[in-house]
Amino acid sequence: MTPRATRRTVLLASGAAALAAGCGSDGGNGGNGGDGRDGGGGGGGTSSDTAGQELIPTADVPVGGGTVLPDEKIVVTQPQEGDFKAFSAICTHQNCVVADVADGTVNCACHGSRFRITDGSVEQGPATRPLPAEPITVEGNSIRRA
Ligand code: FES
Repeated sequence: MTPRATRRTVLLASGAAALAAGCGSDGGNGGNGGDGRDGGGGGGGTSSDTAGQELIPTADVPVGGGTVLPDEKIVVTQPQEGDFKAFSAICTHQNCVVADVADGTVNCACHGSRFRITDGSVEQGPATRPLPAEPITVEGNSIRRA
């Protein structure tokens, strides 16, 4: 399994919010305490030690929608056929894992924030910062961590 052939690297550097997902509490914490500041956790390397790991088959990501991978804390979207993007699934509001993808947005059930599947930007608050992009590669029919 060597990564040759057609290996597209999709690196979405949507600027600023590359940090965010520092803490590892996922459960249904709706956040009492915490008023929007990201705790500045000195998290470690997110993608380096898992590079190449298959996230999901391309066929499992609907065109015009996306799929939340709660274990990986990643949401993979396909705004247009063959155009795959990935973002952190940790809501930038108070760190809930987003719930689903519908009607062109990634939706957080905790307080109703919605993020666009095209670039992770905020469609509806209370979140004010976009979902950070996650680097992925598309190899054949698989989407993998870059
Ligand atoms: S954690 Fe509040 S909207 Fe997502």
